Amino acid sequence: MNSHQASNWSDLAKEFTWKTDFKSELSGGFEKGDITWFKEGSLNICENLLDRNIEAGLGEKTAFFWEPNELNNSLKKSFSYNEVLTEVSKFSNALKESGIKKGDVIAIYMPMVPEAVFASLACSRIGAVHTIVFGGFSKEALRSRLIDSKTKLIVTAKTCYRGNKTIDLLGVAQEASKDLDHLSHLVFVDNSDTSANEQSGLNQISYTDFVKGMPTTFEPVYVEAEHPLFILYTSGSTGKPKGLVHTTGGYMVWSAFTFKEVFQFQDDDVFWCTADIGWITGHSYFLYGPFLNGATQVMFEGVPTYPNPDRFWKVIEKYKVSHFYTAPTAIRSLQCLGDDWVLNSDLSSLKVLGSVGEPINLEAWQWYNDIVGKKECEIVDTWWQTETGGVMISNIPGKTQAKPCLATKPLSGINPALLDQNANVVHDNNQEGILCISKPWPGIARTILNDHNRYLETYMKPFPGYYYTGDGAKRDDDGDYRIIGRIDDVVNVSGHRIGTAEVEDVINKSGLVIESAVVGIPDETTGQALLAFGIVSSTDSSEVLENKVNEAIKEKIGSFSKVKKFVIVKDLPKTRSGKIMRRLLRKVATKDENLGDTSTLLNPDCILEIKKSLY
Ligand code: WT7
Repeated sequence: MNSHQASNWSDLAKEFTWKTDFKSELSGGFEKGDITWFKEGSLNICENLLDRNIEAGLGEKTAFFWEPNELNNSLKKSFSYNEVLTEVSKFSNALKESGIKKGDVIAIYMPMVPEAVFASLACSRIGAVHTIVFGGFSKEALRSRLIDSKTKLIVTAKTCYRGNKTIDLLGVAQEASKDLDHLSHLVFVDNSDTSANEQSGLNQISYTDFVKGMPTTFEPVYVEAEHPLFILYTSGSTGKPKGLVHTTGGYMVWSAFTFKEVFQFQDDDVFWCTADIGWITGHSYFLYGPFLNGATQVMFEGVPTYPNPDRFWKVIEKYKVSHFYTAPTAIRSLQCLGDDWVLNSDLSSLKVLGSVGEPINLEAWQWYNDIVGKKECEIVDTWWQTETGGVMISNIPGKTQAKPCLATKPLSGINPALLDQNANVVHDNNQEGILCISKPWPGIARTILNDHNRYLETYMKPFPGYYYTGDGAKRDDDGDYRIIGRIDDVVNVSGHRIGTAEVEDVINKSGLVIESAVVGIPDETTGQALLAFGIVSSTDSSEVLENKVNEAIKEKIGSFSKVKKFVIVKDLPKTRSGKIMRRLLRKVATKDENLGDTSTLLNPDCILEIKKSLY
């Protein structure tokens, strides 16, 4: 794909194979949330990703190297584009045999194993919709997603290897899948020696048996450009996760274009994005963007520090990775372990280092630049969201200037605006505003599954005529953007997006508290951490309660949403209408003396009490 300026999205779209040509570029808009790209066009994204590249001569090229966890003794470690197509076709045939049709939803609850790629791409080949659920989600979180999306078939693996631990993923998937009318099949990758229990009521079959004897070709099923490609759940400022729906044509163009543009990727380069496929980064910059561009990638099942803290660097050395894309939280935690782990690896293949997921702090940026990149690599700080489908603001290697800690400039065709609380555009530079986008782009999520109204309320209604990002930002005199962070009740812990309302919901339902409030506070390693305040009736100590609360969170959401600290309080600060002032709690917790006028609170005295419990 050409990396010319995208003055015209149609030109980019025409570089792909369409079954039927599209008639218009953009129709619809933010107001009704009826954004439509490439109307009347029909295509198959999997054909564009595999067949099109194979026809262009890339059949024997390595699509990806698989670096399994050390404990996982699987054999095959790399797959050419031809081999991926064969595996995807077999799985597509098996899905069809199981009665899966265009538009049906398939859940992928898998570790970073090659079968996850084959199964996901097979969905797109047959026009089914995948919903990939991060393997760290608990059985209840998985179950609620299966129900919301009316999943017909789930693909999982027996075991998830994480560092030196093994997790019984199949067991979780089985529990989550119990007695759901719409769910008929469970397919599992048989990746360990443990025996698999039978699950009554479900057609349970191993991946190997599922694809056994299946034909190695499968005609792609053509879908309209706006046909849903995947659903990806993400947290918002209210309790229930949102199933964001991304559609085929626009997402294809956006993920492919942004990959090529932001990373300035060349044919012989090797790309490694460390994100799990359960997050949007793993979708856009592993599953789709790079493969659409015929790239060679690394798929990594491990963790950064196992068996040693040089795991990332050894993988870069082994595969001669040229483009490495990770999150600030990983950079910070590796920085803590000392430079020697980096210096003892040959990283001379590196050209571009990417950062994503949260603002990168100066110390981490410098370490990434000086120690990992030896001051010879370009660092790209890429700002985007699950909702945007791909990078929106980033410097471009060789084209625009990087600035430590600034995402810098919007990509061509993207028009950000900073607005104040009254929806006035902030024209002055160096002023904080709410980051909004003023025109639809091809990769924007089109709706929230089963709740279009919530989509409109969350993104389109706050400032009519704009897409509302939920982030605060500043623009400097060069027109470069610095992202400050969320302005809503969404917290970013180790790059995981967590809605504080969702965590409060779990704590409130645990029976341990009368009332609770959860806020995000800065944390040196994880960026932000969760702090929970609770009014309690029991005599348990805060440590005991913290453990109990975290057990509940682990069960209902997943361990990554655990609170760092549980603080017992007598009362929580509230407005006269009874709304908990989380902003105030955050300030108190971070020792910010500038609390503003607290006299209008229902219970101003509680602030002093809370300070006493905290410090
Ligand atoms: C939120 C989106 C983008 C894929 C991974 C996270 C924060 C993301 C940056 C960055 C500062 C960033 C924002 C955004 N964020 N990238 N380069 N600099 N903040 O996707 O889970 O949808 O989270 O992550 O706050 O709104 P997500």
